Amino acid sequence: MGVWALLVAAGTGERLGEERPKAFVRLGELPLLAESLRRLEESGWIDSIVVAAPSGWEEPTILLAEELSAAKVVAAVTGGATRAESVRAALSEVPDAAAVALVHDAARPLLTEELIERVLTPLSEGWDGVVPGLGIPDTVKRVRDDAIVETVDRSELVAVQTPQAFLTAVLRRAYAGDLSGATDCSALVEAAGGRVKVVRGDPRLMKVTTTADLELVASWL
Ligand code: CTP
Ligand code: MG
Repeated sequence: MGVWALLVAAGTGERLGEERPKAFVRLGELPLLAESLRRLEESGWIDSIVVAAPSGWEEPTILLAEELSAAKVVAAVTGGATRAESVRAALSEVPDAAAVALVHDAARPLLTEELIERVLTPLSEGWDGVVPGLGIPDTVKRVRDDAIVETVDRSELVAVQTPQAFLTAVLRRAYAGDLSGATDCSALVEAAGGRVKVVRGDPRLMKVTTTADLELVASWL
């Protein structure tokens, strides 16, 4: 039963501004979703995959999985109004026997086998969760009404990515409560008292938000 991947793809892609949801905008020949789906399918670490699809796109998601021969895909559930609600919907398909849940954004197509290994390994060393993070090269300021109120010590800051890996029982407890304000899974696990480790992230795992991001990621394929 091992490791279940929860691939959240249910966002509308407001900032990308295309007619179709972001997960179904083309990256090369295929929808953006196909890239992360194929990589999870091919990963030696992943046993099963649940996709959270935009409402009305469940069937195209299953067809895409078939086209990619992604036999690990067990369900395409309807996502929710927020990312956290989409994760919760996908989590409902994961059996208790699954020890580990790895949650990934379809908006980050270029995940690697090395990174999957990096976030999974510490779970056997007593951590509740593991997230990839990157240091922040710029100087960071706290700003109110256009005025700088503080220069923040960036040495303690990281920008976190997905995939984020958790013990399934821990993730389920974290998602049992109020989801408001959570922009990643780790925030809910942290709030529930979980110990989350940060490992080195990957600059190529950037999140596609704008058309320029999509062009940049396409140039890396
Ligand atoms: N996501 C989701 N369900 C939502 C919102 C987001 O499954 N209700 C997923 C997106 O599909 C994406 C990831 O969460 O893979 C990160 O979200 P984001 O990059 O913000 O995507 P969108 O919400 O689609 O984009 P935007 O905020 O520009 O509308
Ligand atoms: Mg969003």
